[in-house]
Amino acid sequence: MNQDISNIKSQFDADYAAVNSLSAVDRLKYAYLGRKGAISAQFDRMKEIPPEERRAFGAMLNTLKTEITARIEELQQKFAAEQQTEADIDLTLPGITGFRGGLHPLTQVYDEVVDIFRGLGFTVEDGPECETAYYNFDALNTPPNHPSREWTDTFYLDVPGDTWLLRTHTSPVQIRVMQRKKPPIRIIAPGRTYRNDKPDATHSPAFMQVEGLYVDKGVTFADLKGTVLAFYRALYGADVNIRLRPSFFPFTEPSAEVDVSCFFCRGKGCRICKGSGWLEMAGSGMVHPNVLAECDIDPEVYSGWAFGMGLERIALFKFGVDDIRLFYENDLRFLQQF
Ligand code: DAH
Repeated sequence: MNQDISNIKSQFDADYAAVNSLSAVDRLKYAYLGRKGAISAQFDRMKEIPPEERRAFGAMLNTLKTEITARIEELQQKFAAEQQTEADIDLTLPGITGFRGGLHPLTQVYDEVVDIFRGLGFTVEDGPECETAYYNFDALNTPPNHPSREWTDTFYLDVPGDTWLLRTHTSPVQIRVMQRKKPPIRIIAPGRTYRNDKPDATHSPAFMQVEGLYVDKGVTFADLKGTVLAFYRALYGADVNIRLRPSFFPFTEPSAEVDVSCFFCRGKGCRICKGSGWLEMAGSGMVHPNVLAECDIDPEVYSGWAFGMGLERIALFKFGVDDIRLFYENDLRFLQQF
């Protein structure tokens, strides 16, 4: 009897060692623990065993059954885990990837503005962010006592030799271009600009502008209006309108502020346009004769118009964002939405 039990055990050891798959585990379980398996067969023999030996035999058989059950469970877990890694991976599902990065909303607007003006025949020019007072103010017909020159508005740089500053607008690029090229000139100059402003929802000490300049024979205010209208319609939709309001800039005469009809309320008046139906978008005007002359372009022969607008303002309205600082805080929760 003991012999029978140790035979079963050594047979099980051999069978156990040969198992190499989950279905082989099932077969092993069936062969030993099934209703007609080796262990059951021994239990069925109990009644043939003399009563005085039955107890000891039953105990040995139970020990063997417990051991076999435990070892089979172990095998089941092992092969189930292996099989799971194959069966549970659906290779047709898209992979899990991290956030791959994207273009900053200001970069997107920058690219779109450049695209639109390229389509209108403009080329892109660049200029330095550290400028001299000559390019930033003097050559732009800005008088020596003009308030924008105050240190409370302009960041001056402590550099000897000249009056250096961080450009307060992209307009100095007009001068650099007109001193280098002769008309026809049709350029835009996007870039970073600086003013001594406290950051709030609508101000940032570093911000971006896009300058536009068109100089040729016979350029008129009507050209300015048509170009600016085409630009804003390309940017905000074919149904927006513009309005030109008289204004003043030292470097243009006449000067005009450009408003775009509010595309949130279609001009009816809302929170965004503060009830007016219009959004202030740009400064513009006919290039002042003094500015052309400073660049050796004869104002009797040539005329031109120019504009300057804030890129953040375009982006604020385009994306419906209400605080300019969000563009500079690099909070991924904000940036991932674009
Ligand atoms: N430079 C002006 C500013 O920063 C904007 C501007 C107005 C630019 C009129 C121009 C212009 O070229 O013609 O407020």
